Amino acid sequence: MLNQTVRNAGIVGVGSYVPEKILTNSDLEKIVDTSDEWIRTRTGIEQRRIAEEDVFSSELSARAAMNALKDAGMQPEEVELIIVATITADMLTPSTACIVQHKIGAINAVAFDVNAACSGFIYSLSIASQFIATGQYKNALVIGAETLSKVVDWQDRNTCVLFGDGAGAVVLKATDKEYGILSMHLGADGSIGRNLTIPGLAVEHHEMEKRRPGNYRTLWMDGSEVFKFAVKIMAQATIKVLDNIGLGIDDVDMIIPHQANIRIVNGAAKLLKVSREKIFTNIEKYGNMSAASIPVALHEAVKEGKIRNDDLLVMVGFGGGLTWGSIALRWFR
Ligand code: ACO
Repeated sequence: MLNQTVRNAGIVGVGSYVPEKILTNSDLEKIVDTSDEWIRTRTGIEQRRIAEEDVFSSELSARAAMNALKDAGMQPEEVELIIVATITADMLTPSTACIVQHKIGAINAVAFDVNAACSGFIYSLSIASQFIATGQYKNALVIGAETLSKVVDWQDRNTCVLFGDGAGAVVLKATDKEYGILSMHLGADGSIGRNLTIPGLAVEHHEMEKRRPGNYRTLWMDGSEVFKFAVKIMAQATIKVLDNIGLGIDDVDMIIPHQANIRIVNGAAKLLKVSREKIFTNIEKYGNMSAASIPVALHEAVKEGKIRNDDLLVMVGFGGGLTWGSIALRWFR
């Protein structure tokens, strides 16, 4: 039976894991016709992490999850729900979440994946928080994990310079009404989804035509279309999630945006008229890690002491689908 009292879900543990191998812009100069200068000025990226050939999203997820559980002071057997946000699942089935459940020994947890690309972590947090709000589950482990290095075409300079591998995780638990997730806003527009694709089982002629022969399962993106969409939607989603709870941009202490391109972040900051100091970025170190970008950035911001108790936080992302989402959260640990 569901508990009648609706409760907020708060973050009680944060963790992340990135592979050791670093690929710098200079390394990329040797692979495709690009330059460190182009990549830095057009994207803000200086380097990215690359998983070993036999390491997949479930392994990165498991390591990030164990770090988050340690931070929360919890054992894997206590976890009731695991959601993994990823577009680079190890397998079509079982889900990455089920593989993680087994890897970490979370034997009592329900487990499933969410596919919303770079918005995946925000979508997953929103889903998990509903289970906690209704009392269905007492806690949840929410993970964003990607091994995008395995799906980019390493001869396509338009995309291969942008992405990286990594994972971030949080533990959610019911919290006091004034703290935790206060508001959420999610959106999707499938009519513009073809701007960013990774084919699955369907072998469609027009998707094959976009790619080099023999590279039909790689990531393809119309960067400038996604760019225009991203700046606008990041600003709109931030305003909307605050509006839902009668707050405005001046009430926000820190924004953790999806880390796709520093120019997208700066463009959104300009539209929002918010000072850049209030926006956390680490894109220079990791590139775009899709669903992992926001939780890895959150973990770094917490470690660096940039988020304090009572701070109002907004996490906001956009990505394949196309999708977008934002969460407003009052921080308390
Ligand atoms: N090195 C050198 N030149 C390059 C490179 C490169 N790595 N990549 C592209 N170029 C060239 C192009 O070929 C083009 O040359 P041309 O003018 O001779 O045709 C020129 O640079 C300019 O290309 P633009 O597309 O206009 O460059 P732009 O300033 O738009 O930057 C970028 C491209 C970085 C891809 C940008 O559009 C972007 O960041 N888009 C958004 C991507 C994104 O955020 N994706 C998020 C979702 S991802 C997810 O959900 C998994």
